[in-house]
This record gives sequence, C-alpha cells and structure tokens, in this order.
Amino acid sequence: MALNFKCVYIIVVALAITSAVDKGNFKSCEQSSFCRRLRNAKPQDADFVLNLDTLHVSDNAVEAELRNEEAEATFKFVLTSLHGNIFRVFIDEEKPLHSRYQVDGALNGELQVAKLEVLERDKEKVVVRSGDNKAVITAEPIRIEFFKNDVLVAVVNDKGLFNMEHLRPKASEGLVVKLGKFMRYLSIFSEGEAEHTKEDPGAWEENFKSHHDSKPRGPEAVGVDVTFPGALRIYGLPEHADKLALRTTQSGGLDPYRLYNLDVFEYEVDSTMALYGAIPVVYAHSDKNTVGAFWHNAAETWVDIGNSKDTNVVSSIVNLVSGHQPENTVDAHFMSESGVFDLFILMGPTPKDTVRQYASLTGVAPLPQYFALGYHQCRWNYNDEDDVINVVDNFDTNDLPVDVMWLDIEYTDGKKYFTWDPIKFAHPNAMISNLTSVGRKLVVIIDPHIKREGGYFLHEECLANDYYVKNKDGHVYEGWCWPGSSSYPDLLDPKVQDYYKGLYSLDKFHGTTSDVHIWNDMNEPSVFNGPEVTMPKDCKHYGNWEHRHIHNIYGLLYTKITYDGLIERSPDRRPFILTRSHFAGSQRYAAVWTGDNDAQWPHLQASFPMCLSEALGGMSFCGADVGGFFHNPDTELLQRWYQTGIWLPFYRAHAHIDTRRREPYLFAEDVRMRIRNALRLRYALLPLWYTLFREHETTGEPVIRPLFYVYPNDPNVVDVDNELLVGDRILARPVTEAGVSSVSVYLPGGANEFWYDVEDFKQYQGTGVITIPVTLDKNPAFYRGGSIIPRKDRPRRSSSLTHHDPYTLYIALDSNKSASGTLYIDDGQSFNYRNKKYLYLNFEFKDNTLTSSLIDKTDYPTDAWIERVVILGPPAGINKAKLNSKSLGTVSLETSYDGENRSLTVRKPGVNIREPFTLKLH
Ligand code: GLC
Repeated sequence: MALNFKCVYIIVVALAITSAVDKGNFKSCEQSSFCRRLRNAKPQDADFVLNLDTLHVSDNAVEAELRNEEAEATFKFVLTSLHGNIFRVFIDEEKPLHSRYQVDGALNGELQVAKLEVLERDKEKVVVRSGDNKAVITAEPIRIEFFKNDVLVAVVNDKGLFNMEHLRPKASEGLVVKLGKFMRYLSIFSEGEAEHTKEDPGAWEENFKSHHDSKPRGPEAVGVDVTFPGALRIYGLPEHADKLALRTTQSGGLDPYRLYNLDVFEYEVDSTMALYGAIPVVYAHSDKNTVGAFWHNAAETWVDIGNSKDTNVVSSIVNLVSGHQPENTVDAHFMSESGVFDLFILMGPTPKDTVRQYASLTGVAPLPQYFALGYHQCRWNYNDEDDVINVVDNFDTNDLPVDVMWLDIEYTDGKKYFTWDPIKFAHPNAMISNLTSVGRKLVVIIDPHIKREGGYFLHEECLANDYYVKNKDGHVYEGWCWPGSSSYPDLLDPKVQDYYKGLYSLDKFHGTTSDVHIWNDMNEPSVFNGPEVTMPKDCKHYGNWEHRHIHNIYGLLYTKITYDGLIERSPDRRPFILTRSHFAGSQRYAAVWTGDNDAQWPHLQASFPMCLSEALGGMSFCGADVGGFFHNPDTELLQRWYQTGIWLPFYRAHAHIDTRRREPYLFAEDVRMRIRNALRLRYALLPLWYTLFREHETTGEPVIRPLFYVYPNDPNVVDVDNELLVGDRILARPVTEAGVSSVSVYLPGGANEFWYDVEDFKQYQGTGVITIPVTLDKNPAFYRGGSIIPRKDRPRRSSSLTHHDPYTLYIALDSNKSASGTLYIDDGQSFNYRNKKYLYLNFEFKDNTLTSSLIDKTDYPTDAWIERVVILGPPAGINKAKLNSKSLGTVSLETSYDGENRSLTVRKPGVNIREPFTLKLH
C-alpha cells in the first residue's frame, strides 16, 4: 500500500516537473505558406538569369540586371567587396509594386567598401578579385562561387534554390497569377491538376488556428542556398535550445531552424523551434578553414541545414569500401517571408577572423559596468521593499556576495510600467540607497505592452499622440499581456522613439536613480492572444510597413530606445540592460538571457551551447536563469547550476512566481558553502571577465569561446559543447549531469599544451579525453598553460567593494616555461575610459622573469597592488624572487613551494598594479 502510494506520488511529481511546450501553438514549416513554397521547391524551379550585357563595374562593386523571364520580373544585382574580407550580395526589384523592406538597425553604421578588380568577363561569367578573395559569378542560372586563396569555400545558389517572389497585384477571382514554374512541383497539389496555374493556398491569405493573416501584399518571399565545400560543421543561428553544431534538417524529419522571435511557453531543449531571439548568421567550419554567411533579413526566416555526413550515408559506405573519400559539405538554405536579398559572405579563414568580420558589420558590446559581471539575484517577485532589504541582509550575514537585486513586474502599480506599487514599493529611494550604500544596484523590468487603462499617463499620451501600432484596418491594435488589454508602441516611428526614451529620465520615472538599470522583457513582442503568441503579421507600423516585415527587429529597437534613454538619463554611467528578444546588432545595447528555462538537467546542459551560439552571433553577454525558471530544482541541481553559471558572462538566479523561495542562504550549510565557493570563484575572476569584455569591445572576439574557436585545426572538438573557454585562458567543464562521480573532459592542444586544475593546480596535457573524479564540491575548470590570470581573491559583499583590493597573478606555465596575459582596469562605471582613463597591462613570463608593462599610454590612478604571484608548473630549483620597480627599487621577496600542487607562491610583491616591474625568480 505504502509502495503504491509512493509510486503514485512519484508519477504525480514527475508529471509536475515535466514541462512540455505546446507545439500546436506554433507553426511547422509545412503550416507556413512561404516556408512550404520555398522548402519544397526543386533546383532551378525559378529561373533567374543575370544579363551580363548590363554589367556595370566600379572600384568596389559589380552590378547587373537579373531577370526572371517566366515571371517577367527584373531585379538589380549588386556584389560589393567590403573592408575586412567580406562580400555583400544585394538584390532588389527594379521597379517594385511596393518597396521591399531593408533592415534598418542591425548594421553598425556605414560599411567600408574595399577595392575590387575584374579579372575576367564575358556573357557567361564575371570573375572578380579583392585581396586574396575571388568571386566567380555565373549568369545562367545565377550562381556565385567564393574562393579564399584560390580554394573554393562557399557557393551561393549551388543547389539552385535562389528565389525572390516579385510583388504583384492580386488577381481578381478566377484570374490566375503564376508564381513561377517551381510551383509545379509542390506536393500540395493533387495529381492531374494543372499545377502551374495554381498558387499555394496561403500565398494571399493564411490561417493558423483561429488567426487569419490578410497578407495585403501577397507573396514576397526570398531565399537562397549557400553551400560550404569542405566544411565539417555549421554553427550559428541563435536562438535555439539545441546543440552548438547545427543538425541536419534537410533529412531525418526535423523542421528547419526557425528564426521568428517568439515567447515559447515551457520551451523544450534539442529543438529547432523558434525562440525569443533571431541572429541569422552561420559559420561553416573545418579543420582547414572557416567561412560565414550573414542573412540580413528581419522577417520570419527558416534555415534548412544540410550536411553530407548525414545525407550521404549510403554513398559514405560505398566510399569507405572503394577507399575514395569525397570532401564533406554543409549547406544552409535561407528562406524569409519578405524583404530584399541581402547576404554577406564572411571569408574567414579562421573562426576568429570570421567572427570578427561579423562584428565589423553588426558591432560589439560596449564595456559593461563592473558590477554587471557580478552576481544578480532575481525572482518573480520580491514582494516589497522589506523583502528586498531582507534578502541582501541575509546574503551579507551568510557571506554570500551579490551585486544586483531585481524587481519583476509586481513592483509596478498594476503592471503599469514606469510606476511603483504605492503600498509595497512606496519608498523606492530609501530602498535603493540601502542597496547602493555597499555598491549594489537595482534592476527593474520594463515591458513594451502598455496597459489600456484610463488615467495611465503612458496609455493616454500614446493614444493622444497616435503612438501605437495599428491593426490591419488602421485602428489601434489591442492585444493581451500581463496587464490584460494592452497596446504596443510603434517603435519604427522616430517620434515614438524620442518620446519613449524620455520616459527613463529621472523626473519622469520617479523613484529611480542612476543606479537603477533596466530589464526589457516580452519584447518579441509577446501577445498572449495573438497568433503564435505574438503580434499579427498584418499589423501596421510607421512607414507603411507591416509587422511581418520588421518582426524580428522589434525587440532590438526596444532595447536601443532603452539604451539611448539611459544614456540621456545618466550620461556618465554605462547602461546595463537585459533583453529577452534580440536580433543581429542587439549586442550594442543589451545583455541577453535564455528566457524561461526549466529546473531540469537538460536545461542546465543547454545553457552552454545556447550561450556559445549567442557569443558567435555577437551576443557574448549571455546567461541562463540559475536554478531554472520553472519548477523547483533539487539541491543537487541548484548547486550544479550555481557552479555552471559562473562560467557564463551573465550570472543571475531567477525563478517563477509559483516556485519555492530558493535564495542560497535558505539551504543547509553544506549547500550554502558550495554556492558560496562558486560565487567566490566568480568574484575572484572578475578582473579576467572584465578584461575580456574590454578586449571584446576592441577586437570583436567573443568573451566565451567554443573549443573549435581556439583550436580550429582539431577535428575532434567540432561537436564539443559541454565545455567552453573563458577567453583563451580557462577551460570550464562543469558537472551538468545528476549523481555522477566522474566526468569526461576533452583537453585540447596536444602533448605540449598544459592544463592546470583551477582548484588544486594538478597538471594535465592536452591529449584528449581524460576522466576527472568529482564530488558535489568539484567544478572542473583548467587554466591553459601559457596564460596569466589576474584575480582578486579577497571575498567581499559586492564587486564595487573590491575596487582597490590587491591582485593575485596566477601564472600557468606552458611547455617552454613561459606565459602571458593582459589585465584591464578602469573606474568600472563611467565613460572616462574613452578618454584614456584606464590601464591596460601586459604580463609576460619568460626566462624565469615576470615583466609587467603598459600596453597603451594611458593612466588610471588606483591603490590596488599585487599581493601574490602564484606560478603553476615552476621550473625546478627555484626558490628566490627579486622585484624591481621604479618606486620600490630592488626588493627580495619570500617564496614558498607547494610540492603537492607544484606551485610556487611569491608573497607580497607589494608593487602598485599600474607600475611597470620585473620579478626575477632564481
Ligand atoms: C517572462 C520572463 C520571466 C519573467 C516573467 C514575468 O516569462 O521571461 O523572466 O519573470 O515574464 O515578468
């Protein structure tokens, strides 16, 4: 009996913790007219031919007329060479019936063109060169081959799937409009019908569940395939809760990866379904080279992925038998509902080059304030001001550092943003001062839906000034969200942008100060009663655009406005913004988190590949809700989540309103201690994180990196996504599996690459998979031999209290007994660093001597000094150290050697961190 009861209990609990997305709420490709049309097309269904008689050549571009004879439509084709090894292919209709939307807001300003020369031209093809890149453009059918150093690396329209549906008048009843001969092949037509005389039934209007899309402009889709010969894997296309290496979707029954910003309730992992963000960039990679493609389009997009390793299983077997191994190939078929054709080919040749090329187009994340890299404590919701203060007090009494407290939607007066609940949050200023007295900050949520309530200033002003998005009939659109009936600001309208950013000013948003930062949520936009939980595509925006044309940049525009508003509000403070919805370019304004994950192990596991993918898409500042948003994690999962989360750039715990309170101090001392240790390691490493963010801003290199990025020539790492590198100095492989006593770690780099366990300094070689025993205390991570890691090891309550604290330098020696590393320091909050008020230091260890020097001729006064230098893998027989600097002269220092851990500690060098010095060991 007892057993039965237990079984029932287990089943009930299991059901309660098993989340399940309702897939029926979201379209499959087959349910989407344009995806169906483009995906089911056969090669060369649509004939597009370049008329090279019309070729026009300039210093940086070639242009020609592109014809689709069957559709009698003419387009203009332009191929431009851009600075930094990038080609751009741009195609628009010559005389469109309506303009096609061209994304505004993703690119980071004007692009710089590069010189291009024509090597060959005749009626059939044109060959152009720019530096060591070459493009061969074939006229019939249009096809472009891209070569790097004469090696073919990418082919546009290799499979002949290029299509651009020209805008056309709607045929009156009975009159037939031809969509092009590719329609003949559509499987949706019954046999025997004169197929080419019919259109896809969703071409001019489309239904999904109870929703009707009126599609006033009719079909206007655009798509193309890009093949990457020789590539082994293809990465990119955030945001998906999936593996880092994209899976083959062209066979095996998977839907293409969907890019359509959506609020997917209880999303599941290992899925190609759309999520909150859309970054249409891919990187094709092999151990020989890397090349990328950025599909610059803000409409709903699906990307069908092919990889010959999966599609040619039979021929692989034949090849294996015959001994002939053709090169592997991957390809991506981009399909968008509307917009111009705007494709950038990033010519690589390394992952680093390719990612930097993408950054040169869409920009980088500006250096955040130092506090933003500390630990953030959130839940839906902290009930009132006392609750907030109580939480930080408890962190303090339990020696747990925290930098930021967060307020979710319940702090507002009835979900009216820019207001405070008059009872629970009646004294925001006092609450904020309490936080800021120890350097802490507050983040409050501001969502785009606006409560339609008489007397609410925001609603009344938006109504009076005509600031809202309209429905298809031109009336203010009304949807349903947290406040109930809501309308949405038309973010395309410059007047709305101006107005809305002004809402953040301190005299408008009463109770806030420069230490209050902003969380933008539900900005896909989320509309509970809308089609697929978002705004109907036929809603109308400023400039006569339909929502369908701009959907994927709505969230980007929203965060840009917030960013501009916060800069205007507090010109000397770097804004911190967290956004859920994002697009290419969002990194210039905000950090991102992976939305409403679940307190389950697979969601913890997904946090690494999801954020790595974001980092490759320019969004390095990424994290996942620590603990899992939905449901209650058990203590093992919670601890592992805290230990894993320290390796992601954004580190915030968050929980759904229906979950049990789970602030770390609520648990037994052993759990608290493990969480404290995780937090302390995070805080100790903040100088490194901060340096990496600064280096990201100057170079475009991601802060966290997948193994293939740092070890591009190692074919064994192409699928590794349960490990990541912090810059190139730490390899983290946290425990993300339940109940394990050991984990496998792949250590890259070969026998000459050394790795040192971050906790016990045990040394390993990078010869591949090793097994590490783990307990609940162990969070496996390794310093890369050859790197110098700056840390601040004194525990404090918040990061700003560590500002003048001394540094410890960990010197992880490589096989030549050398190492190097950088350290960036500034005031941690203002823009003064843009006026040379910073320190950028280089540490170099070789020939038993550590040298510190300034990389840039800048200065920033600081009291911080070096309290310890710890050398991992020190040369034998060394036990003395001598420091030399201008202010200290020559000083002999104490050292101690730890034989068990093979580390040598030099105590109290005492030199100020900004002063160049040498430290000789002998
Ligand atoms: C959304 C957010 C979540 C937040 C909730 C209430 O679900 O993703 O983080 O707590 O809205 O604002």
